[in-house]
Amino acid sequence: MSHPSEAAQGRPAMVRLGAVARTFHPGTPDAVRALDGIDVEIPEGEWVVVLGTNGSGKSTLLNVIAGTFGLDGGTIALGGQDVTHWPEHRRAGIIGRIFQNPFSGTAPAMSIAENFALASRRGRTRGFRPAVTSAFRAELRARVSTLGMGLEDRLDTAIGTLSGGQRQALTLLMATWHDPGVLLLDEHTAALDPRSAAQVQALTADIVQGRRLTALMVTHSMPQAIAYGERIIMMHRGRVLHDFRGEARRRLGVGDLLACFEDARRTPADDVPPSPRSAVGTD
Ligand SMILES: Nc1ncnc2c1ncn2[C@@H]1O[C@H](COP(=O)(O)OP(=O)(O)OP(=O)(O)O)[C@@H](O)[C@H]1O
Ligand SMILES: [Mg+2]
Repeated sequence: MSHPSEAAQGRPAMVRLGAVARTFHPGTPDAVRALDGIDVEIPEGEWVVVLGTNGSGKSTLLNVIAGTFGLDGGTIALGGQDVTHWPEHRRAGIIGRIFQNPFSGTAPAMSIAENFALASRRGRTRGFRPAVTSAFRAELRARVSTLGMGLEDRLDTAIGTLSGGQRQALTLLMATWHDPGVLLLDEHTAALDPRSAAQVQALTADIVQGRRLTALMVTHSMPQAIAYGERIIMMHRGRVLHDFRGEARRRLGVGDLLACFEDARRTPADDVPPSPRSAVGTD
């Protein structure tokens, strides 16, 4: 049986980044070239893990894909459509997002049911307070019960009263209520206790692999990077330093990744190559 990444490589690109560049505070002494010419193509259905040292540009990468930040140069296409000049809200119909902080992405005073009713329409109709119909409630009960947290009996509870792990699990369900074209996960388990983190990570794998979603997942956890996804991109100073796919990805262990980090730390800014050192996609 072929590995998912081989299957994915034959598919059209869901995400195509061409020479993507973004500088913060340009023309000042504080200028930071957060993304310095990123060329990445992600086939439909591929799960990519994004690694890199602090400040290497991982969150900025997700932010420019989502349209939170604009570009200084380059192009972004999602599902074959050039979205470079689309505002964030227009991309929201294609993108599902989860952040590190379990308290972002939901309205704390609203109930679980109301939050889901809102989220289920994201990128569709806008501007109305959500109506929770009985059919929607039944569907919601069924989906929330799959979490195994007993939250299906608490659908009218204000979401702000739940634990971080409960909220993050619900946020994941919300972001994927309709299969998003691209799912962006930015250290979404980093703020959770180990047990909740493992639970949310397992749920992520069920959803991403079960529905073959295209996903970018930022993490600082080497074991998590090795255990999940089928491609690993390592960023350094706004560039892609390594891009492990196929056989090279399958051979990779935690020790190899740690060595890559050491290598990155020793690489001065001027020596970061414009193209990945290990774009090993072949088998
Ligand atoms: N809104 C902003 N304004 C100014 N500078 C920013 C902004 N966002 C990011 N930066 C800078 O851009 C660079 C890349 O930041 P980014 O948040 O993308 O890094 P990261 O790889 O996600 O790091 P971490 O692992 O710490 O989350 C950093 O030098 C950061 O200080
Ligand atoms: Mg970050």
